[in-house]
Amino acid sequence: MQWLDRPLVLVGLMGVGKSTVGKRLATDLGIDFVDADEEIETAAQMTISEIFERFGEPYFRDGERRVISRLIDCVPRVIATGGGAFMNDQTRALILQGAIAIWLDADLATLVERVSRRNTRPLLKNGNPGEVLAKLAEVRNPVYAQAQIHVRSKDGPHHRTVLTILEALARWHG
Ligand code: S3P
Repeated sequence: MQWLDRPLVLVGLMGVGKSTVGKRLATDLGIDFVDADEEIETAAQMTISEIFERFGEPYFRDGERRVISRLIDCVPRVIATGGGAFMNDQTRALILQGAIAIWLDADLATLVERVSRRNTRPLLKNGNPGEVLAKLAEVRNPVYAQAQIHVRSKDGPHHRTVLTILEALARWHG
């Protein structure tokens, strides 16, 4: 993908596979992969759960915005973002202007199954994950829809999703 002159930013709900798909996509394209959540944890020297507990969500969102703005620098790389990053007006504007946003989307049952594999997500610690995700989908999906590219992640192997992204990118470029 010789024409690629900026980062590809994966957005979408928790559990959709942004990190796994992002790593494979980066490998296929021969470019770097960066996980924004991991960058935030490294910068803060704390896990995301600890940041939420000690400083609250607004503090986390501010760190998230700063990390993402540092990563959007005209270098083609794949960036996986946390599910809430694109909801922040400033972060979203940065992504839409300086990168290509790819909304990875899956049905609720798939998301619920995938988030059950890891219990480190602060927003899913209180309450039923299915209900929390359904509410988040209602609020967030119209915003994720602003991404330049929309790809549905089927309940199949991630490499199939990567192929779908590559095809969508080629179409988008024209
Ligand atoms: C969040 C998603 C998480 C993480 C934080 C908040 C969200 O990332 O950034 O727990 O608001 O949806 P993943 O989408 O990678 O799970």
